[in-house]
Amino acid sequence: MSFRLVVLVSGSGTNLQALLDAAADDAFGATVVAVGADRTGIEGLARAERAGVPTFVVRVGDHPTREEWDERLTERIADHKPDLVVSAGFMKILGPRVLGAFSVVNTHPALLPAFPGAHAVRDALAYGVRVTGCTVHLVDAGVDTGPVIAQEAVSVREGDDEESLHERIKTVERGLLVETVGRMAREGWTLTGRAVRLGSGNVAGHTAQGSTSGRTTK
Ligand code: GRF
Repeated sequence: MSFRLVVLVSGSGTNLQALLDAAADDAFGATVVAVGADRTGIEGLARAERAGVPTFVVRVGDHPTREEWDERLTERIADHKPDLVVSAGFMKILGPRVLGAFSVVNTHPALLPAFPGAHAVRDALAYGVRVTGCTVHLVDAGVDTGPVIAQEAVSVREGDDEESLHERIKTVERGLLVETVGRMAREGWTLTGRAVRLGSGNVAGHTAQGSTSGRTTK
């Protein structure tokens, strides 16, 4: 049985597409079993539908409180029994119910802890850095503050604007996300303090001696 991924999206879904393409090969070791979104009418959902992957939408505005949204989102994700949830361009802060129930990774278009938040590429350009990049990290309760799993650098070029730089980052980001999620599925991981180690997982969801670990349950 393959390692089960639920991917959360809010936009164009090119990172999702990279995971769908990678998962077409059994050797990847993981399958996208569902795609969730916080809004309708986005290309990310259309990509899932074209791939025959079930989708669900849980909008904040359809819930009286953020807590109820968090609860409903947790239920809809749980329906698909994921081993890992991947936030791939999902533009909402996940709540304590989702984070308590699942291991979640996020991809971010900057070298964290520099430039967290929704405008990372714009902020990096405005600061004038010569090198930025992307980060895949475990999600905790903060905004882009969780333990770093993998990072890759991208140079800023003369004349770059937010769009050109973000496109170049996204090309690198898709590869990094696929590589990282694939390794987590195939090799497992442990978390000790803030240190994430790939290739050392024991039992999915197991917690011992201040460490958490996960791996494929196949
Ligand atoms: C990515 O750069 C992601 O890091 C950021 O938004 C972008 C999403 O791109 N949060 P896509 O929807 O996967 O094409």
